[in-house]
Order: sequence, then structure tokens, then C-alpha cells
Amino acid sequence: MARAHLTIDPAFTIGPVRRRIFGGFVEHLGRHIYDGIHEPGHPSAGPDGFRRDVIELVKELGVSTIRYPGGNFVSGYNWEDGVGPVAERPQRLDLAWHSTETNRVGLHEFQHWLDLVGSELMLAVNLGTRGPKEAVELLEYANVPAGTARAAQRAANGREEPFGIAMWCLGNEMDAPWQLGHRDAEDYGKLAAMTAKAMRQVDRDLELVACGSSGRGMPTFGEWERVVLTHAYDDVDYISCHAYYQEHDGDLASFLASGVDMDAYIESVIATIDHVRAVKRSPKRIDISFDEWNVWYLTRWEEQARHFTIDEWPVAPRLLEDRYNVADAVVLGGLLISLLNHADRVTSANLAQLVNVIAPIMTEPGGPAWRQTTFFPFSVTSHAARGDALRVAVDADTTNTATYGAVPVVAAAATAEGSSLSLFLQNRHLTEATTATIDLRACQPTGAVTARGIWDTDVRAANDLRDTQRVGLRINDTARLSDGLLTVELPPVSWTALTIA
Ligand code: AHR
Repeated sequence: MARAHLTIDPAFTIGPVRRRIFGGFVEHLGRHIYDGIHEPGHPSAGPDGFRRDVIELVKELGVSTIRYPGGNFVSGYNWEDGVGPVAERPQRLDLAWHSTETNRVGLHEFQHWLDLVGSELMLAVNLGTRGPKEAVELLEYANVPAGTARAAQRAANGREEPFGIAMWCLGNEMDAPWQLGHRDAEDYGKLAAMTAKAMRQVDRDLELVACGSSGRGMPTFGEWERVVLTHAYDDVDYISCHAYYQEHDGDLASFLASGVDMDAYIESVIATIDHVRAVKRSPKRIDISFDEWNVWYLTRWEEQARHFTIDEWPVAPRLLEDRYNVADAVVLGGLLISLLNHADRVTSANLAQLVNVIAPIMTEPGGPAWRQTTFFPFSVTSHAARGDALRVAVDADTTNTATYGAVPVVAAAATAEGSSLSLFLQNRHLTEATTATIDLRACQPTGAVTARGIWDTDVRAANDLRDTQRVGLRINDTARLSDGLLTVELPPVSWTALTIA
């Protein structure tokens, strides 16, 4: 049995837990929108074509802000194609995913869906094949109350009142060679600054996100952030991070410790932001928008990806439909722990993605919608992490990993709001349970403890169409609180959330 000793004092806070760190991401990709959230004719669809069973699951998941419409897709997108009478909208080639975009869903329909879900829109502009002019026109269309051609067009399209979109992404992954309109850091930094300045001439209160690297492994990582911010520091509010994790060659131990990589990624980007801030002697602080993160079996996708011919442009093909198991969910819980432990600088984050495409929610056309394993740590954390993130002092046994060396066997985060406390624990040990002792004497806890989590004797167990409920949340009945000391036994390869009311 491994052991971990944790100490928490409510006086030592990291920062407030912003709701926006529990964001999601919906891209026009595969069966995400069409045959995912939007399936006219499905028994649960309303007259608007949106599936109500999916809406209920999205609400249960507890996503705050939702990034839209991409992703790689946005770098070839004409927003004008998605507004106006649906019957008159053009079908277009989606070059990013070699599909046909029907444009049956665009800005108005997506905002309507968000209103049903209760989430905020975070809109990305196309800086791949388009530029500041089109970004400003979209902003005028979306946010200017009245009195201009674009505002009148919006009203004629059925929406008098502005959308009032606060958060905007200045393109997507512009560092990446696969991105339409990819450019170097100098060119993108100037373009981002120029676009941001123009958009602020319309509305100075926008919150703008510049593209950081599309991954920590990119050859330009670090230098990209420095150069982009050297140009755009005064004009933007966030720089983005993107990270996807997967198990390589059966190395589950390293995979479980993916949070170690996410911690290092975040801390490197903070260092780079603050370096630029120092050089500029700026009083302004820029935060991180971790606007794509998840488990994604990217190498499987790359192996399967085939070269489509000129006449192959499917509508809503099955793309990136990863099936997640218990180990994947434990990793995802660990990544949320990493985000919470950087709540002072990661003030916005988006799980990528939401439905069918590397998603916590799956659907079958004409059939059910269900929760993947990764749904559970996200929904529990989103609902339980409230108030302030607290520092957790971890003194634990270590476990060996090929990629990160020896790492603490337990990763932990804590939040407190008033007298309620929540703890999130990941046991990275492959075979041993860990006894965690948590010194909460400074918190003077008195209430009842509940402990829920995800683990299984078969870490490869998953939910799918044949058995949509094979894996779910489990109650851990080993938690005991006595004289301010909380003890709990964490099963091997597990993620657990404890709440003290
Ligand atoms: O989330 C899938 C893709 O991953 C997104 O379109 C892109 O931004 C990233 O490379």
C-alpha cells in the first residue's frame, strides 16, 4: 500500500476558480453538429432540430463557455455562409476535414442552442484565409446594437438584439503547418495585434485571445509565444495553450502522469508571458486560455487518416470518435487537477470537444445519447470546484514513469467556498491502493464527507452503444474524518472527489 500525506490551510489560496475554466468546444467537424447536437427527425429533437437528450447531458456536464466554430475548421470559414435563410445557404468544401459543410447551422442557430444549454459563446474569427476586415464585420454583425448595415442584416435575419459576445479567439493554431493560412510568429503577432486593435475600435471591452502554440512539442514552442506577445501584448488579454494526451505503446504509468506535462507547459507559458511583461515594463497581466485540452488518440487518427480524392466530400462523416476507457477518465481527472492548481493564471479553458468528436458525450443517429467515461470527472469537478483554489502540500510516495521519472503517487487539488471544501485526488499507482491522510485541522471541518470517483478492476472498461452504462461514478466508502484528519483509501488507477459540506 502506497501512502500520501496532504496538508491544506484555507489561508493559502491560489486564486478564485473561474467558471470559464470549465468550458467546452464545438467545432464543425465530423458528427459534432450534424447528426450530433443537431438531428432533425430524431425522436428527441425539437422543431429546431436540436436533440433535447443531448442538451440535457450537456447541462449535466456543466460546461460554461463554449468555443465555436473551430478549430482548424475556422481557418477556412466564411461566417456569412452561416446566416440568412437556411435554404439559401451555400454548401462549401471544408478543407480542414475534407468534408462538405452544409451551413444548416450557423451563428444564430448555435446561439439558440447555447441559450437552451445555458452556456456562453466564445467565438473564433478566421485569420487563416481572411483578416481584420472580415473579423470586424463579424463583430459589427454580432455586437453592434443598431444603425449599421451589418446590424440591420442581423435584425433582418431574425435577431434584433445583439449577441453581446465577450470573448473572441484571434484565429486558431496559426503556428501549425496543417493550419490554412499558417504563418510565422512575426507575421501572426502583427496580424493578431492589427486585428485586435481594429476590433477594439468597435468595442474596447472585448476579451481577446491570441494563438499560442498548438502544443508544447511544437518546434517553435516558447519562441512563438515570446514573439507573438512582443507584438500583441498590449492588445490581447489571453494567450492560448492546446494539449492532447494519449497512452503511447502501452505505457500507462507515464500516461497517468500527463498532469506533470500540463503543469510544466502552463508554467513555461507563464514564464514567457511574464518575460515579455518585464521587457515592456507593463503593469498589465496576461492570462492563459487553455482552449483545447483532452485525451486524444491522435496517432490512431494519423494512422487511419487517408487521402480523400477530389470527389469525396462527405457530410458529417464519423471522424475522431474516440472511445474512452476508465484509464482515460483518470487521466482527464488529473488534467483538471493541474488546471485547478493554476487557477491564478489559467482563467479560461475548454475541453476539446463536446459531442461525438473526442467527446464526453456520444450519440447514435436515431438512437441514444450516452456518457463516456471522461464525462464523470469533468461533471463532478465542474459542479464541486467552487470558491477559491487552495494550495495542497503533498508529501507522498513516488511511482516511476518512463517519461517523467519518479512522480508523486497522488496528484491533488482543493477548493473552498464558505464552509464547504472539495478535494480532487488521482492515484497514479498501477497496482497499489494509496492511503491518503489529509490534514484539514486548519479548515476545522465538521460536516459529512462524501467521496465519489472512477476506478475499475478493468481499466480498459468503456461505455458504448452496446452498453451505454458499463462505467459510472462509484461511491468510495473508506473516507473517515476525525479531529480534522481525513483518511481515504484510493484504489489503483483512480480519480476521486471528496466534498465536505
Ligand atoms: O480538436 C481537434 C483539432 O485539434 C482542432 O480542430 C485543432 O485546433 C487541433 O489541432
